[in-house]
Amino acid sequence: MRKMTDHRQYAPATVRNRDFILDVLRDVLPTTGVILEIASGSGEHVVHFARNLPSLVFQPSDPEPDALLSVAAWMKAAEVANVRAPIVLDASRSPWPIASADGIICINMVHISPWDASVGLIRGAAAILPPGSPLYLYGPYKRKGFATAPSNEAFDRNLRDRNPIWGLRDLEAIAAIAQSAGFSIPDITEMPANNLSIVFRRM
Ligand SMILES: C[S@@+](CC[C@H](N)C(=O)[O-])C[C@H]1O[C@@H](n2cnc3c(N)ncnc32)[C@H](O)[C@@H]1O
Repeated sequence: MRKMTDHRQYAPATVRNRDFILDVLRDVLPTTGVILEIASGSGEHVVHFARNLPSLVFQPSDPEPDALLSVAAWMKAAEVANVRAPIVLDASRSPWPIASADGIICINMVHISPWDASVGLIRGAAAILPPGSPLYLYGPYKRKGFATAPSNEAFDRNLRDRNPIWGLRDLEAIAAIAQSAGFSIPDITEMPANNLSIVFRRM
């Protein structure tokens, strides 16, 4: 018998942050509808959220083929019925391959992708979300140009050493783009380990 390869990837941070994020999502997301996840990565978050928010349907996505394989493998292992097959989606490439969603979540992408990905994320979200719907971001941010903790400053340096076009972004710069794209001012929740939950609503 041929042994099937298990494509599941493991991102240790997901186990640490997923329940804190879930608590915020319970308040932020609608009770029904389709939630698009940008930058699903391993897929561990989306299966956890789907299991705990069964009245929603989740649409995972990522530009990386290995990530899509991992998401599919986690879906199979978790046996969740309310997650759609993952799609290839590069946030910086317009138009996105999905016409509508009732909410969008994006965890830990903004600091570890080119600035174009953040701009594309916000503009792409504005193009498909109906009025009142949330765009939820999670991750570490600078505020007014400064890292909010020494650990974030070190992380920012580490990211830039790995790739000069990565790095913690200014919350104010993200908010300015969001507002110019038709979103509300952000609702901010401080999260463990100096991360932020940032919620914009489509106006
Ligand atoms: C640090 S991982 C985070 C993955 C997952 N959300 C998590 O929290 O474990 C960053 C993810 O961003 C994705 N990514 C990078 N550039 C992107 C882009 N332009 N559009 C969408 N996703 C992107 C990567 O493929 C990767 O899966």
